[in-house]
Amino acid sequence: MQLPKFVLYLAALATSSGRRTIPTDTHQWVAPTSTDVRSPCPGLNTLANHGYLPRDGRNISVPMILDAALEAFNVDPDGLVVAAKFGLLSGNAPTTLDLDALALHSLIEHDASLSRGDFALGDNLRFNETFFMTLANANPGADNYNTTSAGQVMHDRLAISLATNPSITNTPKEFALRTIESSLYLSVMGNPLTGIAPKEFVQIFFREERMPIEEGWTRPTTSITRATLNALGAVIAANANWTATQECEPLVLGPDTTI
Ligand code: HEM
Ligand SMILES: *[C@@H]1O[C@H](CO)[C@@H](O)[C@H](O)[C@H]1NC(C)=O
Ligand SMILES: *[C@@H]1O[C@H](CO)[C@@H](O)[C@H](O)[C@H]1NC(C)=O
Ligand SMILES: *[C@@H]1O[C@H](CO)[C@@H](O)[C@H](O)[C@H]1NC(C)=O
Ligand SMILES: *[C@@H]1O[C@H](CO)[C@@H](O)[C@H](O)[C@H]1NC(C)=O
Repeated sequence: MQLPKFVLYLAALATSSGRRTIPTDTHQWVAPTSTDVRSPCPGLNTLANHGYLPRDGRNISVPMILDAALEAFNVDPDGLVVAAKFGLLSGNAPTTLDLDALALHSLIEHDASLSRGDFALGDNLRFNETFFMTLANANPGADNYNTTSAGQVMHDRLAISLATNPSITNTPKEFALRTIESSLYLSVMGNPLTGIAPKEFVQIFFREERMPIEEGWTRPTTSITRATLNALGAVIAANANWTATQECEPLVLGPDTTI
């Protein structure tokens, strides 16, 4: 049974002090409490807000992340395993991570994000509409975002950071991460093969870190793999007209991947 929206809001309000009302539906969206932790990643935060990951955001293992992303978004483990393993380096626990630790700058977290500020300028963890405005206003006149607009947004967000952040880091590593993140929002909120995603769904995903089920979103039926993400990423990257600010050493990310 789908609960009326106001009941969900009441449930969320009741928890804002650190107490949690246990939702009747295991995967109902519930806002994080004051003691829950969240990350700079709207994907992981959405998984936690819906209970696919622990709602407190702590002690999360690589298999927990891979299972949650598959179950909720149909992302194949091959698309996320490198990022998830990297994430373990955000803390000292040998096999788990806490979501807030993922804000560690230059591990995965980078400048010129779509919805967060640069590390050197203050808050690189929380959603901020000031930065999200570029994506929110992209592809004017259309109801969806696509690989063309996603590339333009990457270009424009980087231009803003280059103009405002003298400490910017912008190497092939950051560009590769930013590109896959753009592939990810188009894929999980839209069509993983065409890269066309309804604006309404993408905006709810970023602003509320919620699966827009009431608005008509459903889990992608196409498996989102490293191959589908890279196919979209190639078009997005071409539209970003990117140039490096600094270079980096070759990054070996596994037996088949070097950046
Ligand atoms: C379903 C899976 C996932 C989706 C849909 C997803 C989506 C995204 C998106 C769209 C962004 C860009 C946010 C922005 O620029 O404002 C992002 C950023 C990020 N993601 Fe994820 N992600 C997923 C899995 C992961 C995993 C497995 C990790 C590592 C444990 C991870 C760590 C991060 C981090 C640290 C950032 C911040 C980068 C930055 O903007 O500085 N994500 N993710
Ligand atoms: C969970 O993580 C916290 C740190 O966030 C740590 O203090 C605690 O020992 C961990 N609990 C378990 C059961 O691993
Ligand atoms: C969002 O970022 C802008 C620009 O850095 C800042 O002025 C504003 O206070 C931030 N808003 C919130 C809610 O943190
Ligand atoms: C993205 O949408 C814009 C506006 O409708 C359109 O001009 C552009 O060709 C589209 N790009 C792709 C790859 O569909
Ligand atoms: C792409 O970038 C190059 C080098 O920064 C610049 O000269 C060129 O004008 C840019 N092209 C577009 C279409 O933005």
